[in-house]
Amino acid sequence: MADLLKLGVLISGSGSNLQSIIDNIENGSLKAVIKIVISNKPDAFGITRAKKHGIPFVVLKNGDFKSKEDFDSELIKILKDNSVDLVVLAGFMRIISPAFLKAFEQKIMNIHPALLPSFPGLHGQKQAFDYGVKFSGCTVHFVDEGVDTGSIIIQSVVPVLDDDTEETLAARILKEEHKIYPQAIQLFADGKIEIKGRKIRIKT
Ligand code: GRF
Repeated sequence: MADLLKLGVLISGSGSNLQSIIDNIENGSLKAVIKIVISNKPDAFGITRAKKHGIPFVVLKNGDFKSKEDFDSELIKILKDNSVDLVVLAGFMRIISPAFLKAFEQKIMNIHPALLPSFPGLHGQKQAFDYGVKFSGCTVHFVDEGVDTGSIIIQSVVPVLDDDTEETLAARILKEEHKIYPQAIQLFADGKIEIKGRKIRIKT
């Protein structure tokens, strides 16, 4: 059997995307292994999820480092020590440094709760809801030096219903996130992501 894709999952909060990755690995639909979960928040619920499934985790507190560069060089070291093939940002609330990008070129994915390039940055669901769009959704993309600007791998469209609140819309989007993030990771594992300029073609 080919080696499983080794993941490093970075979180800051609830970790429901981490959970969907764990569940998809455990039910056999995602051929990967989570080598390490890293949280920059000691109280992130995602840590409890990692513990429950026996997945190694590390907490790196923002305040324990003199600079962003120091934080990221520790992050890089941990990911390299764990031979991570793909870095998965799952609600990781930090902008990453150029050194981190260079260390894992085209090997860092993120999920954003809106249809990029609309509504990047914080609270994508609220931005879309307040704007009054009829459709929103979520996007899995590679990370580049911008905020939510990297090449798009998969998007899923979610309708905005007349009686939606920001919360019901966010919940509907989150359900889709849990589907497309594991799918995108599996495409990477299968070597099916072809990058041409900023465009991505999925090989069949
Ligand atoms: C998700 O909405 C994701 O799109 C965004 O941060 C949130 C993380 O949620 N990047 P969770 O921690 O995976 O539950």
